[in-house]
Amino acid sequence: MNYSEKVMDHFQHPRNVGEIDGASGVGTVGNAKCGDIMRIFLDIDENQVIRDCKFKTFGCGAAVATSSMATEMVKGKTIQEAMEVTNKAVMEALDGLPPVKVHCSLLAEEAIHAALWDYCQKNGIIIDGLKKPKNDISEGEEEEEY
Ligand code: FES
Repeated sequence: MNYSEKVMDHFQHPRNVGEIDGASGVGTVGNAKCGDIMRIFLDIDENQVIRDCKFKTFGCGAAVATSSMATEMVKGKTIQEAMEVTNKAVMEALDGLPPVKVHCSLLAEEAIHAALWDYCQKNGIIIDGLKKPKNDISEGEEEEEY
C-alpha cells in the first residue's frame, strides 16, 4: 500500500495529540467494524473561534494521520467554518489515501462534529448542517460478512 509523504509525516509525527482540560466540546466516535475509536477535544473562545484542538485515538495509522491534519485545519476557524473541514478536504490536504483507508478519515470528521455538537448542546447554539452525531460510524453501512 502506498501512502503519501504527508500521510507518513502526520502518522509518524502526529500534531495535537492529547487532551484539553475543561474542553468546550468533546466528541467520541468509533467504528465498530474495525474497532477504532477517536476522541476530539475543542477549546472554543467567546467569538466561537476554535482556539485549540486535540485528539486521542485508538486507531490505525490512517486515522492518526487524518486526525492530525484535521485538528491542524480546524484550529483558528469559527465553528461554522470548521464544518467545511470534511474528510475529503483532509484527504486532499494529505495528498490522498489508499481507497481501502478512506473510511478511516471519517473518524476525524465525525469526532469533530460530535465535539461541535457537544459544545452546541452546552451553549444552546445551532450550527447549520450539523446533525446529531452517531456513536458508531459503521452504522448504516452495508453489512459485511466476517
Ligand atoms: Fe479503522 Fe482505519 S482501520 S479507522
